[in-house]
Amino acid sequence: MITAHGVELRVGARVLLSEATFRVASGDRIGLVGRNGAGKTTLTKTLAGETQPTGGQIVRGTDIGYLPQDPRTGDLDVLAMDRVLSARGLDKVITKMREAEGEMASADEATQTAAMERYPKLEARFLAAGGYAAESEAQIITANLGLDDRVLAQPLGTLSGGQRRRIELARILFSGVETLLLDEPTNHLDADSIIWLRDYLKAYNGGFIVISHDVDLLRATVNKVFHLDANRGELDQYNMGWDTYLEQRETDERRRRRERANAEKKAGTLLAQAEKMRAKATKATAAQNMIKRAEKMLGGLENERAADRVAKLRFPTPAPCGRTPLTASGLSKAYGSQEVFAGVDLAIDRGSRVVILGFNGAGKTTLLRILAGVEAPDTGEVEPGHGLKLGYYAQEHDTLDMDATVVENLRHAAPDLTDTQVRSVLGSFLFSGDDAEKPANVLSGGEKTRLALATIVVSGANVLLLDEPTNNLDPASRAEILGALKTYEGAVVMVTHDDGAVEALEPERVLLLPDGDEDLWNDSYQELVSLA
Ligand SMILES: Nc1ncnc2c1ncn2[C@@H]1O[C@H](COP(=O)(O)OP(=O)(O)OP(=O)(O)O)[C@@H](O)[C@H]1O
Ligand SMILES: [Mg+2]
Repeated sequence: MITAHGVELRVGARVLLSEATFRVASGDRIGLVGRNGAGKTTLTKTLAGETQPTGGQIVRGTDIGYLPQDPRTGDLDVLAMDRVLSARGLDKVITKMREAEGEMASADEATQTAAMERYPKLEARFLAAGGYAAESEAQIITANLGLDDRVLAQPLGTLSGGQRRRIELARILFSGVETLLLDEPTNHLDADSIIWLRDYLKAYNGGFIVISHDVDLLRATVNKVFHLDANRGELDQYNMGWDTYLEQRETDERRRRRERANAEKKAGTLLAQAEKMRAKATKATAAQNMIKRAEKMLGGLENERAADRVAKLRFPTPAPCGRTPLTASGLSKAYGSQEVFAGVDLAIDRGSRVVILGFNGAGKTTLLRILAGVEAPDTGEVEPGHGLKLGYYAQEHDTLDMDATVVENLRHAAPDLTDTQVRSVLGSFLFSGDDAEKPANVLSGGEKTRLALATIVVSGANVLLLDEPTNNLDPASRAEILGALKTYEGAVVMVTHDDGAVEALEPERVLLLPDGDEDLWNDSYQELVSLA
């Protein structure tokens, strides 16, 4: 159980949230929604106790399982499965049991005897913590989240960001804590895992807050919705399921619009009245007060308007290039003895659209990294064609310089831009004047996505390699980006689970991994997208 009383959240001069009071008790299944940058991540981080609120109190009555939006760095040498098991303190016992087992086979009699005495005590501890049943419970969870044995045996440091997040999610679900705080848990999951997580949360006994842009997940799991309204800095609490919430919210918005119109009318009347009274010396003070009140009313309205904008996007015309700007032949990649894919050939023509499909672990991200030149293939070659300018969008925003500011990141991508051009790009990707000087690492998930996309399109790229570009985006920004992608004249190679994104791309071809077969796009592939 978490109790929040009068909580205020501020970053710099901006108030994200004022005076929020609520509880997360057992049986509360809360969906936390709001546009990109509204403060959802900041709020959950605060509830988890990782940062302090700038006002109010938060009381945590139980242990909390918190899944952050960005995978955090911890001890990277820990094996993935041990990380999961550590949630119930099983990892240490298991390690000690393995040690003792080894020593029991020792030639040295003293070592052997000591180990034999130790072993039963260790096993008792192991059993008390749930023992073999718990271990297999953990294995069920990891399997359902698409983590195979190969991944589980690797140290965390060798895993991709997406795999690390799945490990963290598995750890939290395995921990058996009462309260969960999940920040966009479906981002790196395939369709099967998402369905499994949905059922898991539906049947969850404790309480949770889940941040998600995945409407199906919200509809299936939540019984309360908290809408963090970025315009007003308030948390609107709806004690109802998703569909009823949508209707109620629509009604509320309509009421607010009406109130806004009324306020405008009233302010107008006040101003007109004040204008008349100003002439009379006896009424001058009253007139001043009326003007102040009217301005205050209108000031509030102005803020709401400004914040309601959504990026109006058009990707710039790409730099000219030859007929086939990118070719790859005979690509293969293996991790250790495990072959990921082999014999992949690919030719990307100017302006063509290709979707890469394949199940989790089939190497989609790896292939994009190889095409982008970030990783080397084991065999084969990537050949840049005439005039190639690559724009690579990585799932974890790896392409951003996190210590540099928003503007510096843009300048880095396109050093020739004039100040006016930089401002215009920032504006069209919805960054305000204040945002420009923020270091990239404080940006919200959706803001990072927008910035990463902005940097690649301003560089004049003529081949975009996009790895799950719609994760993190709120529905309005997602629609804008997909619209811009539709009219973009360059070539696009995309990896995504988002079937709406594929529809918007109107791909001509599909590349299937791990086999590397290529085919013309047809509608039967559309069904595979969300499954892949
Ligand atoms: N240290 C900081 N300095 C300045 N601004 C900050 C800082 N930390 C966060 N912000 C800003 O606070 C806002 C809220 O960020 P937060 O990550 O909580 O949003 P969010 O609702 O989770 O968004 P998303 O849907 O994109 O994940 C963002 O505009 C972010 O840029
Ligand atoms: Mg967030």
